[in-house]
Amino acid sequence: AATHNITVLPGDGIGPEITKVALKALTAAGKAEGEDFVYTEAPIGGAAIDATGDPYPASTEEVCKAADAVLLACIGGYKWDSLPNAQRPEKGLLRLRSSLNAFANLRPAVVLPQLADASTLKREVVEGVDILIVRELVGGIYFGEPRGFKEENGERVGYNTMVYRESEVERIARVAFDAAMKRGKRLCSVEKSNVLEVSQLWKDVVIRVAQDYPEVELSHMYIDNAAMQLIRNPKYFDVVVTGNIFGDILSDEASMLTGSLGMLPSASISEPGKPGIYEPVHGSAPDIAGQDKANPLAMVLSAAMMCRYGLNLPKVADRLEAAVTAALDAGYRTGDIMQPGCKQPRPSAGRHPSGSPMVASGPPS
Ligand code: NAD
Ligand code: IPM
Ligand code: MN
Repeated sequence: AATHNITVLPGDGIGPEITKVALKALTAAGKAEGEDFVYTEAPIGGAAIDATGDPYPASTEEVCKAADAVLLACIGGYKWDSLPNAQRPEKGLLRLRSSLNAFANLRPAVVLPQLADASTLKREVVEGVDILIVRELVGGIYFGEPRGFKEENGERVGYNTMVYRESEVERIARVAFDAAMKRGKRLCSVEKSNVLEVSQLWKDVVIRVAQDYPEVELSHMYIDNAAMQLIRNPKYFDVVVTGNIFGDILSDEASMLTGSLGMLPSASISEPGKPGIYEPVHGSAPDIAGQDKANPLAMVLSAAMMCRYGLNLPKVADRLEAAVTAALDAGYRTGDIMQPGCKQPRPSAGRHPSGSPMVASGPPS
């Protein structure tokens, strides 16, 4: 049996609750395949601020860099909302992504048949949707310089810079084209090239990279239209490639096709040889934290992406995904995806009759 070193970052809010469920499922799925996971927990975000004064302490950076993969829950909360940007929990997450050069954020939005009626959109619109958003994660307006505040004509001015270099666009475009080749061979590049120079450059580079992928049908869409088309006809999309902030917004929007933000996992892939970060798309949900209401499935599915993309353990990934399906088939639903006739998960439910490990959340045991 192989041993895999996972750095686990539970973070804030619902983070510790969903981490507990995901690790239980991961350990069980690994055991069934003869794979062992060694978990090293480290603080990030608000929890790290409280413990050390720094949202991404050097000790956390060290164990992340040394890991085979990093499994992150979520960060942030009301308590730290009035801190200056540079000291906020969110900065810890951005520094984590940057320090591992996790530039390619894969955010799949798949409508599971069990949840086709859980969406706020009509069943016939969302049924069968299977989209992969490829979001550039370590550049764009999140990281561009100059940024900050200044005083001008007696008032405060805040400013950020959206910047992409050709090399940054090229590497994310290649990830997206490669993904499209393994899927439906359709790629939609989303930008705002009717207004922004940075987007004109983005589009030029994507068109150039497309020459290496003649089988992929490439389309271009402005972000405002894409936000609309995603709701109007989500089945139009196969793979979407876009920059950091547009991808952030589109992926939360895409989550509502699947029923809930609590269903969406992600993988943030670095260059070969460096660990990736596997994290739900959602945040720390401070409005429901500590109430045993959080949907842990995005976190479980993030662990599955970690096994599939980071650790080359497709069988463990299959088991985790099957466990999610089994829990849904058995009628378990958290509040965010509750449907008539379904039930809240209870720890006494134990194992699903099929023998799959349960992924239902319950009070701490
Ligand atoms: P959020 O994603 O935390 O929550 C948005 C809404 O979705 C809330 O109503 C929440 O209850 C619900 N929700 C989210 N995840 C859920 C789950 N697993 N199960 C059930 N319901 C769920 O976004 P927000 O409220 O805008 O932000 C809260 C905090 O999280 C902020 O500090 C923000 O910066 C941070 N955040 C962190 C990450 C991350 O760690 N990757 C991502 C987004 C936001
Ligand atoms: C996400 C989050 C983060 C982002 C924040 C918390 C920095 O919204 O992972 O989607 O904007 O990338
Ligand atoms: Mn987001």
